[in-house]
Amino acid sequence: MTTGSLLTADLVIAVLAAGGWLGGGAASAARRRPLALGLAAFALLATLARAITITALARAGWWFAAEKVLIAAPLSLAAVAVAGPRLLRAAGDIRSVAVPLLFAGYATSGALLVTVLHGYPASAGAGLLTVAGVVAATAVSWRALGARPSRTVSRATLVVAVAALVTGTGLTVAPESVPDVPHDHGYRDARTVGEPTRRFTLTAGTATVRVGGRDVAAWAFDAQVPGPELTATVGDVVEVTLRNRDIGRGVTLHWHGYDVPNSQDGVPGVTQAAVLPGQEFVYRFRADQAGTYWYHTHSVSDVGVRMGLYGVLVVRPGPMTGLDVTVPVHTLGGRPLPAPRTERVEAGTPVRLRLINTDSTTHRYALAGTAFRVAAIDGFDLRGPTSLVDTAVLIPAGGRYDLVFNAPATPVALFVDGRVVYSTGEVSTATTTWPVLDPLHYGVASPAPWSRIDRKFTLVLDRGLDLHELLPRYAHTVNGAADPDIPPQVVRLGDIVRFTIVNRAQVVHPWHLHGHHVLVLSRDGKPAAGSPLWLDSFDVRPGEVWEVAFRADNPGMWANHCHNLAHADAGMTLHLMVS
Ligand code: C2O
Ligand code: CU
Repeated sequence: MTTGSLLTADLVIAVLAAGGWLGGGAASAARRRPLALGLAAFALLATLARAITITALARAGWWFAAEKVLIAAPLSLAAVAVAGPRLLRAAGDIRSVAVPLLFAGYATSGALLVTVLHGYPASAGAGLLTVAGVVAATAVSWRALGARPSRTVSRATLVVAVAALVTGTGLTVAPESVPDVPHDHGYRDARTVGEPTRRFTLTAGTATVRVGGRDVAAWAFDAQVPGPELTATVGDVVEVTLRNRDIGRGVTLHWHGYDVPNSQDGVPGVTQAAVLPGQEFVYRFRADQAGTYWYHTHSVSDVGVRMGLYGVLVVRPGPMTGLDVTVPVHTLGGRPLPAPRTERVEAGTPVRLRLINTDSTTHRYALAGTAFRVAAIDGFDLRGPTSLVDTAVLIPAGGRYDLVFNAPATPVALFVDGRVVYSTGEVSTATTTWPVLDPLHYGVASPAPWSRIDRKFTLVLDRGLDLHELLPRYAHTVNGAADPDIPPQVVRLGDIVRFTIVNRAQVVHPWHLHGHHVLVLSRDGKPAAGSPLWLDSFDVRPGEVWEVAFRADNPGMWANHCHNLAHADAGMTLHLMVS
C-alpha cells in the first residue's frame, strides 16, 4: 500500500469510527439497544484498525503521522477507555452509556478535525483546543440528556474546558515571528548583458480565439494562444518588450525554467510591479542555456495562464538540424490545445518533439510507431538515455520533455491523454495500457556534484484552515502556513541547499522553484538511480517524499511554489532569499 492510499484509508477509517461512536451514542439515547451496541462495536473495531494505519504512517515518516500520534491516538484511547467498560456493564438501561459513547464520538471527530483543518505540524494549541471542544460538547450532551452531574464534576469540566480553550487559543493565535527579509531590488543592475541580438515585442490583450471549432474568450499575447514562439541561439542576448493593452489585472513575463537574473524573473510584487494597461516593461537576458522552456504571465497567474497568457521559448545550441516540433499542451475554455497536426516526414529525418505542459495538472504523453529517447527534461540533457518503445511519459504542470527519434518509413503519432496531437500519418495503436517511464531510473548515473549540504529545509504540503486577516479560507499550506505567512527561506549565495518535500495531501503538487534547477536526490527514501535529473518542475504525489538539492547561485528573492497555479494562489507559495 502506498503512503498516499494509507493516508486516504486512515481518513476513511477515522470518519467511520467517529460516525460509529456518535451513532451509537444517539441510538442509546433513543434506547435502541441492539443498534447502539452494534454501532459501538463497529466503532471500537474501527478505532483499533486505526492503530494499524497510524503505525504504518509513522513508519513512512513522522510528517504523515504527527498529529495522529500526538492528538488522535490519545483521544481514541480515552474514548475506548471511557466507552468500553461502560458498554460491558450496560446490562440495565442502555441510556446510561449514551454520554460515554458521545464522548468517544466527540473525541474521534475532534482529532479528525485537527487532521483536516490543521495537519502538520501538530501543535499544543491545536491539541488543547480540541480537548476544550470535546469536553464542552460532552458536558452539553450530559445536561441535554437530563443527567445531573455532581457539582465537583461540573466545576472540573468547566475548568478543564476553559483552561484548554484559553491556552489553546493563545498558542494558536500568537503570531509566529516571520523573519524580516531585506526586500529591495538591488540586483537589478547586477549583470549587464550587452546589446540585444534577438528582439521581440509581445502585446497582451483580451481576444477571441478559435479552439476546436468554437470561439473562446481568452487573454492572449499578440491575439494568439499560445503566444508567439520565441527562439534564440545560445549566446544571444534576448530582449522582449511586454506591452499590456487591456488586461486590467496586470501582466508580467516569467521565463519558466530559464534561470534569468532576479530582476528579469517577472514576479509581480517581488521582482517588479505588474504591467498595467497602457504600460510596458522590457526584459533582457542572455541565452546561455539551450533547451525547451516557456513563458507565462505571473500576475494573477492562475487566471492569467489559464486564459491563455503563455508561449514557447526555445533556445537552440546552434543552427537547426532535422525537424524540430514544439507541442505546448494547454486547456483553453475546456478544450485541448494544440489542434492536431499531420505532416509528411522523410524517413531518416532526425526529429525532436518538445513536449510542454502549460496546464496546472499532469498530462500523459505516448509516442507510437517508433522507438525514441528522452533527450532532455526541463531543458537539461539527460546522460545516456536509452531507447524506449511503447512507453508513456507523465509530464508535470510546467514540465518539458524532449523526445528524439529518426523518422521511420512508417507513420508515428504522439498521443496526449489518448488524443492524437501530432502525427506523420495514420496510426491506430492503443497506448493507454503502456507502462510509464520513471525518470529516476532512466539513463546513466554520475557522482553528485557536491559532497556537502549547507542548508536543509523541509516543506510539508497539506491543506488547512488559514485565518489571514481573520478571513477564514481553506488554504493549500506549507508547514501549516499559507502565503503570505510562510516564513521565507534565507540562504547565502553559494550555499548547497536541500529541500525535503513531503506531500500529506490528497492531491498532486507540482513543485517549482524559480531561478534554479534542482537535482533530484531521492524519492520516498530511494536514491535517484538514473541520469542526473535537473528539474524545475516535478510532481510530488500524495504520500511522496522528495529530496532535491541545488546550489544557490542566483542572488535575489525567488518564488518557490506549487505549479498547480490554483494551489499557488490559495496559499502554496513561499520565497527563497539568496544573498
Ligand atoms: Cu511557471 Cu512561478 O511559475
Ligand atoms: Cu499544489
